[in-house]
Amino acid sequence: MSEPLILGIESSCDETGVALVRGNELLFDAVASSMDEHSRFGGIIPEIASRAHLESMVPTLQRALSEADVDLSDVDAVAVTAGPGLVGPLTIGASAAKALSLAINKPLYGVNHVVGHAAVDKLVHGDFPQRFMALVVSGGHSSLLLVDDIATAVNELGSTLDDAAGEAFDKVGRLLDLPYPGGPHIDRLAREGNRDAIRFPRALTSKKDQEKHMYDFSFSGLKTSVARWVETRQDQGLDIPLNDVAASFAYAVADVLTAKTIAACELHGVDTLVVGGGFSANSQLRDLAAQRCAEHGITLRIPPIRYCTDNGAMIAALGSSLVAAGVEPSNYDIPVDSSMP
Ligand code: KG4
Ligand code: ZN
Repeated sequence: MSEPLILGIESSCDETGVALVRGNELLFDAVASSMDEHSRFGGIIPEIASRAHLESMVPTLQRALSEADVDLSDVDAVAVTAGPGLVGPLTIGASAAKALSLAINKPLYGVNHVVGHAAVDKLVHGDFPQRFMALVVSGGHSSLLLVDDIATAVNELGSTLDDAAGEAFDKVGRLLDLPYPGGPHIDRLAREGNRDAIRFPRALTSKKDQEKHMYDFSFSGLKTSVARWVETRQDQGLDIPLNDVAASFAYAVADVLTAKTIAACELHGVDTLVVGGGFSANSQLRDLAAQRCAEHGITLRIPPIRYCTDNGAMIAALGSSLVAAGVEPSNYDIPVDSSMP
């Protein structure tokens, strides 16, 4: 008998995603984005995102069903992002999922978006090992997860205390007058720069900080250091070596992310690392993670970029693991939770 067919719906930020997954197989993943409408404001505007989800939800669903060549009545369960994310956008996806589940009389699963970023990797690299570490980095989150079972046992070892990695890149992008989102632009500049040109601080890495925040991150002070460095140069009437600033800043972020993650793998005796979230597109992070994982005998799994950014496939993938593990479905009164742990 074939595995259950799961419909996944994602709407926590600016992407409306609908995908169909059976086991570890992705049938189709349809995504609509409202990013173009937000870029001119230099950040995501929740009201605009909500309206865009409302407009795109049904067309995106129809496209996914038609491209996957499945009928709605063939779907065995509906999974939807219940949090974390923006309340308005989450509500649009949850309402759509509840209505669909009720209409086809199939179970509903409200799932965690951050865990979804790790779960999607099974569609690319197959079943997960018994135990693995997941680093989920994006514009909204930077979390280190110890995963014993993606459906039932995910333990957040640490997360950012302030800005997420992508958010810090976007803020530094703004102060360097780069277009929004600044992350990919800084990445491009950094590839031409010298990462050792400026020694920016690595937060929460001192012995004292490590005791309390061994696996937590903080990037807001780093962003302030970059701002100060740039201001001082400007006050002195000197040029800003954009490539070197970008490379040194990107190295500081990638250094802390990978050092803490590898330390966590070693301490917990884990030999597989999954990296997910939109920030995993970052070249400095990819290069450093590959180098350090190789040095420590850790298998590195990073899905292709289109599965790292927000999409319905990650939610359907997690939904299929929940169904396979026999987890109880959600009730129809489940709320959305903007700060879901
Ligand atoms: O996962 P995602 O698409 O959306 C969120 O859930 O946030 O991640 C987008 C974030 C943005 O902050 C963007 O600037 C950053 O990831 N980003 C990058 C790169 N590509 C995307 N940051 C640095 N280097 C990149 N190549
Ligand atoms: Zn995300």
